[in-house]
Amino acid sequence: MKVLVVGRGGREHALVWKIARSPLVDEVICAPGNPGTVELGRNVDVSPDDHAALVRLALDERVELAVIGPERPLCEGLGDKLRAAGVPVFGPGAAGARLEGSKGFAKDLLERHRIPTAPSRSFDRSGLAKSFLEGATAWPQVVKADGLADGKGVYICADAKEGRAAVDAIMEERRHGRAGERILIEEFQEGVEASVFAISDGKTILILEPVQDHKQVGEGDVGPNTGGMGVYSPVPHLTRRLHKQIEQRVLVPSIHALRHEGIEFRGILFCGLMLTDSGPRVLEYNVRFGDPECQALMRRWKSDIVPVLVATANGKLEDIEPPVWDSRACVGVVAASDGYPESPRKGDVIEGVSAAERSDDEVVVFQAGTREAGPDLLTDGGRVLCVTALADDLDGARDLAYTAYDRISWDGKFCRRDIGKREESRPDTGNGAQDDALATPAG
Ligand SMILES: Nc1ncnc2c1ncn2[C@@H]1O[C@H](COP(=O)(O)OP(=O)(O)O)[C@@H](O)[C@H]1O
Ligand SMILES: [Mg+2]
Repeated sequence: MKVLVVGRGGREHALVWKIARSPLVDEVICAPGNPGTVELGRNVDVSPDDHAALVRLALDERVELAVIGPERPLCEGLGDKLRAAGVPVFGPGAAGARLEGSKGFAKDLLERHRIPTAPSRSFDRSGLAKSFLEGATAWPQVVKADGLADGKGVYICADAKEGRAAVDAIMEERRHGRAGERILIEEFQEGVEASVFAISDGKTILILEPVQDHKQVGEGDVGPNTGGMGVYSPVPHLTRRLHKQIEQRVLVPSIHALRHEGIEFRGILFCGLMLTDSGPRVLEYNVRFGDPECQALMRRWKSDIVPVLVATANGKLEDIEPPVWDSRACVGVVAASDGYPESPRKGDVIEGVSAAERSDDEVVVFQAGTREAGPDLLTDGGRVLCVTALADDLDGARDLAYTAYDRISWDGKFCRRDIGKREESRPDTGNGAQDDALATPAG
């Protein structure tokens, strides 16, 4: 069969890498793809925003499965359009994607179905939002743009002055465009963050292995937020007991809630949580794989992923064997370009990618912000590559990943040297952190 993957980042390179390994697959087409995906399949120069061209491409190529990587085309209904044309799609339609596309919609659904989340108020007028903040007694307060803001629409405000500035930036200056037509002001939650991932076809739910990214640009979690500077899996602070609790209190009720509201959610549900003293609380939903979380999940997913993707797309997840996970640990180190996240430099010549992959059988480099120019591979974005490695434990995986990372070079390359190390300094979350780390079925 032919599979179409929509997107151009590291997440999509990892998806193409995993899908291309399936004996069921003859060809993977990636639209538009990147210099990494072209080595595993065929890149077609169609933008993820050109829905009509993507539908045409899927029909012309007789694609039997489309996997939509990024959130924007999902929120804009690409899944619905492909499905209407008869193409099975891994990824929710616009109704389901609103969970990510509108934080207000997600909050209403969470509250209606009593899924634990931070209390919040929604505003569509900046004056009312600012008077609410004037009256706030507890600080910090969290001000969030309602819509898609590329991970930049959340402001943690220490006092009323910062709160007013955030409201102005979002609603008056329209720093995030239409995403700022509405805002949420949310109670600050104290705790440790975690993300959990589940695949659903709208009825059945399949919980994936825990993975954790590092959002901030600097070592020790300092500096501005990024798309993600690295990733590791498994996640020792997400104990088996805690993961079970999240499954029962958050993931399963979320899929039930969607179903109850008439939304058939076929794709991946990614919950961003704060593990507070009173249990896990949802901070947000995403409706696609995280990047770089996807890279680690694809490395640890041992069995064939394609039957799961196809069954999800066709509403038949019930009939499918759950995935077999590699019991080894994965660490992924993002190699970024000088200036990231504010203004990354581009156009530098990258050397050593194949040398890095040759450093060990268990190393795979996924490309993101790269571009080919004749024989050269050039940097073309802030997050350029993600160097992943598998080993018996996190320490081993980290060593392999950094050894490989050091073989790659370009002017202005940098990374965080502490990926996967955060565990040692983590506080006990009071939720059974003394339990055994989540065991993985040996495969
Ligand atoms: N209620 C909250 N309390 C404390 N921190 C929060 C809260 N909401 C969000 N954050 C912080 O802000 C980050 C981004 O918020 P999130 O809701 O995940 O939006 P997005 O990923 O769309 O930017 C979170 O990862 C978390 O660190
Ligand atoms: Mg988030």
